[in-house]
Amino acid sequence: DAVERGEYRHYMQKEIFEQPRAVAETLEARVGPNGVLPNIFGVDGEELLTKVQGLHIIACGTSYHAGLVAKYWIEEYARLPVNVEVASEYRYREAVVPQGSLLVAISQSGETADTLAAMRESRRRGYLGTLAICNVPESSVVREADLKLMTRAGPEIGVASTKAFTTQLAALALLALHLAKRRGLDPQRYQELCEQLQHLPRAIERALTIEPQIVQLAERFIHRHHALFLGRGMHYPVALEGSLKLKEISYIHAEAYPAGELKHGPLALVDEDMPVVAVAPNGPLLDKLKSNLQEVRARGGELIVFADKAAHIEGNAANGSVLRIDAGGDFIAPAVFTVPLQLLAYHVAVLRGTDVDQPRNLAKSVTVE
Ligand code: G6P
Repeated sequence: DAVERGEYRHYMQKEIFEQPRAVAETLEARVGPNGVLPNIFGVDGEELLTKVQGLHIIACGTSYHAGLVAKYWIEEYARLPVNVEVASEYRYREAVVPQGSLLVAISQSGETADTLAAMRESRRRGYLGTLAICNVPESSVVREADLKLMTRAGPEIGVASTKAFTTQLAALALLALHLAKRRGLDPQRYQELCEQLQHLPRAIERALTIEPQIVQLAERFIHRHHALFLGRGMHYPVALEGSLKLKEISYIHAEAYPAGELKHGPLALVDEDMPVVAVAPNGPLLDKLKSNLQEVRARGGELIVFADKAAHIEGNAANGSVLRIDAGGDFIAPAVFTVPLQLLAYHVAVLRGTDVDQPRNLAKSVTVE
């Protein structure tokens, strides 16, 4: 055990630091100077994907959050409608399946009972076919899917998923770009997005250097009972993932909200005991997010902002701090901003003395309903 963990105290920490390599391996021989390689979904995949007119994504837990990010990417770049749903809901309701829909199942293990059952259920619902995005080649989800795109994260031991998530994002980014090209995305923008994606391992590596600052920040959470995570657009799912990590391993109650919803409820909870973590990359929604953050400040809430190096956002020593991350571009930013949130959850849990790799009541793979 100690040998496998090497210099790291927990598997989770090791797996967080393995992300540059895991993502590089997931992208390897799949995207190059001429864009996404045509054969990455196999020969049948090529043909099937040309017919796709919409996607339904099903998954659980962290994999569900990866699906939510993909919705923003695919709708923006490929202009195809995407529905994302937790598998346990999808399997028991009469979903409407428009013609030409592809069912995408995302799963690290490929054995999650609800995801597998939802995929089986989809068979009688009239999809074009099924695509599995999965980390375990010999798993049930992979065996039963028509098309597969493997994440190459390697074995993930920590119950709280980290490198599985960022490699899922890498695989979904490939899918988004493949569809975008087919659907006529401007060639220059396509090229630029492919370059961003190729730089993702490097961008994650840079983001990891923030760890010493996160260790200090984590101290401020030790005695907290609640935390709020905010994001907008494709960073709302990043906020969801950050809050899930914190609750899974530190047992602090955490909730994520799209920042624009703040005034529709959660603002009532904000006082000096409520840390508010915001993901603030540079982009068209930055100004709107800033005014959301103003609302938190005005109520004395402690703000922790993860901001893009390029974003104009000021710290305020009195009740907030701004930590700078180089997002490496608008497209890959969700994967990059995930990293400091993983580190935050990890270091808070370490300080609170919880069983980081095996949090109470949770399982790595939920194979029963
Ligand atoms: C469990 C794990 C999570 C994981 C979820 C879905 O809840 O603790 O980390 O995200 O299952 O698992 P899957 O293997 O289908 O991605």
